[in-house]
Amino acid sequence: MNAYTQILETLRHKPGTWLVTGVAGFIGSNLLEALLGNGQRVIGLDNFSTGYRHNLDLVRSRVGDEAWSGFRFIEGDIRNLETCREACRDVDFVLHEAALGSVPRSLEDPIRTNQNNVDGFLNMLVAARDAGVRRFVYAASSSTYGDEPNLPKIEERIGKPLSPYAVTKYVNELYARVFAGCYGFKTIGLRYFNIFGQRQDPSGAYAAVIPLWFSSVLQGKSPYINGDGETSRDFCYIDNCIQANILAATTENDTALDQVYNVAVGQRTTLNELFFLIRGEAARHRPEAAAVEPLYRDFRAGDVRHSLADIGKAQALLGYVPLYDVRAGLARAGDWYAATL
Ligand SMILES: NC(=O)c1ccc[n+]([C@@H]2O[C@H](COP(=O)([O-])OP(=O)(O)OC[C@H]3O[C@@H](n4cnc5c(N)ncnc54)[C@H](O)[C@@H]3O)[C@@H](O)[C@H]2O)c1
Repeated sequence: MNAYTQILETLRHKPGTWLVTGVAGFIGSNLLEALLGNGQRVIGLDNFSTGYRHNLDLVRSRVGDEAWSGFRFIEGDIRNLETCREACRDVDFVLHEAALGSVPRSLEDPIRTNQNNVDGFLNMLVAARDAGVRRFVYAASSSTYGDEPNLPKIEERIGKPLSPYAVTKYVNELYARVFAGCYGFKTIGLRYFNIFGQRQDPSGAYAAVIPLWFSSVLQGKSPYINGDGETSRDFCYIDNCIQANILAATTENDTALDQVYNVAVGQRTTLNELFFLIRGEAARHRPEAAAVEPLYRDFRAGDVRHSLADIGKAQALLGYVPLYDVRAGLARAGDWYAATL
């Protein structure tokens, strides 16, 4: 039995109370499904700015009424400190996901990005510290590596941020460290690398590449590739991300606290390769997708050229072992997009 299955087993015998912020979003709703599916009590907080009520309805239909009765939802905003305090009451573990994602959105609207991602984050830190929660785990980002050119990315070596979004996510880490140093409130930050999977939103101007391309290709339309297609990323399936969150929340290893970790697979895929993989998956469901070709356009401002994580730190300190590589994850995501789009 590996560390993760062991922890799930322990949690099922002794359920905890979890707060998931951003619970109606992509990652938050998947965390909710995994936690309720393992018999946990969950409080969810969301203001529906980029998340959806139907994500919650989908989770309900997946876990069934009995597990769903362990869920309490608060419609509210992390920019309001009192709301954060109410949400943190009697909570053991906080998984803080609420934020405004997307580099392009932050270039369009840096003020709103900062209000949600920095002011909101600080409210959550203060509320969680004052409520005495056992663990605070937060969504950090691979964008914090900025212009650091070396691959693979290791946690201790970062560059300068390339976008307002990256600044906000780095500020989260700085606050987290200061809260450990000044108040003894030790947290864990998870630097997500391009997480993908069911319920990631394919619509809107700021959609991530995988849902956007599945949506286009399944409809027989050509997706755009920004740049020459040789830009690369470490795409990470959602179940790996859930595993990292649960391990981080429950670790009893004191040296694992007050740290940030890469959450990825440790596998680099170019956009050109990604396109062929997605087209292959889409064609399993809709044969006409096999004829779709991509269209190339300019590079996108604020994007880093290459990204690849070293996941050794999460493996060593948290016992993290990604169970899905990019192909296995895309197969599952493809099944979901084909069934729902
Ligand atoms: N998806 C990725 O690849 C990725 C990569 C790096 C970091 N992250 C981080 O992971 C977290 C979750 O991302 P996601 O992909 O699920 O995005 P998402 O947009 O699907 O989910 C974010 C959720 O937070 C909610 N929210 C936003 N502002 C809020 C506020 N002020 N008060 C209450 N709720 C609020 C939204 O309504 C939404 O439901 C974010 O912090 C994001 O920055 C994601």
